Amino acid sequence: MQRVIIDCDPGIDDALALMLALSSPELEIVGITTVSGNVSADLGGRNAKKVLRQMKRLDIPVYIGEMKPLKVPYTDASDTHGRDGLGESFLPEVQGDFPGISAVDFLEGALDEEELSVIALGPMTNLARLFQKRPDLIRRIPRFVSMGGSFRSHGNCSPVAEYNYWCDPQGAEVCYDCAARAGKIIEMVGLDVTRKIVLTPSLLSYMERLDPETGSFIRRITRFYMDFHWEQERIIGCVINDPLAVAYFIDPSLCGGFDAFLTVAGEGVCRGQTVVDSMNFWKKEPNSRVLADADVKRFLRMFLSRLIPGAGDLAYLEQLYRMEY
Ligand code: RIB
Ligand code: CA
Repeated sequence: MQRVIIDCDPGIDDALALMLALSSPELEIVGITTVSGNVSADLGGRNAKKVLRQMKRLDIPVYIGEMKPLKVPYTDASDTHGRDGLGESFLPEVQGDFPGISAVDFLEGALDEEELSVIALGPMTNLARLFQKRPDLIRRIPRFVSMGGSFRSHGNCSPVAEYNYWCDPQGAEVCYDCAARAGKIIEMVGLDVTRKIVLTPSLLSYMERLDPETGSFIRRITRFYMDFHWEQERIIGCVINDPLAVAYFIDPSLCGGFDAFLTVAGEGVCRGQTVVDSMNFWKKEPNSRVLADADVKRFLRMFLSRLIPGAGDLAYLEQLYRMEY
């Protein structure tokens, strides 16, 4: 059992990632912190609670984080995730207050208490603020997995940048710089691998057939996202980035990659681009593990079988996989 903190911006794929994490016996989620990204950190907090209610885990605390990036103006992704951040499903609010401390204060206190791994699924503003105050705490994070960036794949919010690192490029850079100074590695689950993870209408129907309650919840929050993918990229289905970061944290053999020094462009046309020194021109120690390939079939088996008991039936999955991928 690995005790982790999940930092996120729910967000539709964040919601699916939380569902996977909550369905995985290997993880004990000590707390969820939200950050402005897909939606504002406070709306993300309300959405995280809606997912916790769906999963019957409202015992897990949710802390609201930074409302805007370190330097650049805040730009949300409501065009992709809907005005409510969960695909305009407009799920009823969860009553109850949030803890009286901020996400950054929670992170500082928790890491002072014990070593905890971090799975970051949104812009890295909270973590950057933490490391600006306490750079020593990165050493208290055994594994730091970040969904973000891109090595060779094109961007998803500019020709070269992935949204999380584009939304707060200085936040991402502060984290990778802190990792470099501490001799730590941030495991970057970027678009090179997450683009391979597409939730298709057939997979969704399969999930609904086996578990109507969970399946209909997932359909309700992904419908808008699927429409967006068709309109923007003529994709039938939707790319679910964040669940791969959780799955990879649980089973690192799902993805392959390499260690390299990485920095993040902060300004101009390349804002948010991850500059990966894969040929070691700069002779700097690695501060990242760049994931470049993923075993899609094994991911699907983990994702489906954990969210929907019985959905991991290999024979049917093989048939579905051959049809879909
Ligand atoms: O670029 C994809 C990432 O940005 C995902 O984490 C998505 O939820 C958004 O935060
Ligand atoms: Ca996210």
